[in-house]
Amino acid sequence: MAEVLAGYGLDAVVKLASNESPFPPLPEVSAVIADGLDGLNRYPDGAARALRGALADRHSVDPSQVAVGNGSCEIIVHAGAALLDPGTTIIHADPSFAMYPHLAAASGARSVAVPLAPDGGHDLDAMAAAVDERTRLVIICNPNNPTGVYRAADEVERFLNLIPDDLAVLVDEAYYDFVSEPDRGRVAVLARTRPNLLVTRTFSKAYGLCGLRVGYGIGSAGWVGALDAVRQPFNTNHLAQVAALESLRHPAAIQARADEAIAERERVADAFILMGVPFTRSHGNFILMEPPDPGMDARVLHEGLLQRGIIVRDGSALGCPGTLRVTIGAPLENDAFLAALAAVVGTTTLRGDAPQP
Ligand SMILES: Cc1ncc(COP(=O)(O)O)c(C=O)c1O
Repeated sequence: MAEVLAGYGLDAVVKLASNESPFPPLPEVSAVIADGLDGLNRYPDGAARALRGALADRHSVDPSQVAVGNGSCEIIVHAGAALLDPGTTIIHADPSFAMYPHLAAASGARSVAVPLAPDGGHDLDAMAAAVDERTRLVIICNPNNPTGVYRAADEVERFLNLIPDDLAVLVDEAYYDFVSEPDRGRVAVLARTRPNLLVTRTFSKAYGLCGLRVGYGIGSAGWVGALDAVRQPFNTNHLAQVAALESLRHPAAIQARADEAIAERERVADAFILMGVPFTRSHGNFILMEPPDPGMDARVLHEGLLQRGIIVRDGSALGCPGTLRVTIGAPLENDAFLAALAAVVGTTTLRGDAPQP
């Protein structure tokens, strides 16, 4: 295994299982993190004022319309804590981000899991039809994890128009940066003025800061006030705040990284087509794939990749048995993955210059 990885200039396992960025934070961001160490004897700014202000400017909203959290996960958890009680329900898609049903479990509420449409995207009509007087929260994951399918802003807006104006909707845009559709920012624009809508984003993916934990939400002051009411006073640590703030000063560099992930995603997808690997077209930094031979168990493929040092996510852990979810890594990591995949499924690698495992 070590020789195989060394052939790609890699000296460790290739981790393509958690939709992380293969790149470290930008150098300017690492510098402010280092500077911030000296201040760690003090509590962070509990209101994350500087970061909230910068995010408010970025989204043309008032700072009272910005929630900051210990990862966007925390904001999603806060939404459940603020809105759900025993006897109420939360509606989300299935399969989707595994955390959503936990919100119901934590609050004694019931989770209503609406199956995805056949294309792997949210069935927004079925989700609207599932709304009843017990529903307190609807979550839309866009693009959806683990399928990567994106629903256009018009479709989300149509959904919002189908449901009661006072029903809280959270649109989880953790993979926003990897969407290449021209309408990708429009739901966050709707969140400036629609009182029931909150859009969450994260610094964990394109910004490469998942280890620090920082994410945010944009919505009405009412939505943000409800989230603030259930959060602990110092929920976002100082290093996360300064790193996120500095990252916002370098939008072109961040988008360049996201663009590289998009280009690599399409390269991997093209390789899948040549290899006869079925997959779902993704707008995230990951692709959900199946073994090319329907007779091959995805778990066998998963194990074969592991034996070659490539860690991908077994789809059965994501509610998608028979599939694997592979995160898009750096080009060399993707090469190593494709070569290992070709070796496991018994076809030849696509890059003539790549070493054979
Ligand atoms: C759909 C979705 N939402 C939210 C998150 C969590 O992001 P964060 O690191 O900001 O908590 C993830 C992480 O993988 C995710 O896939």
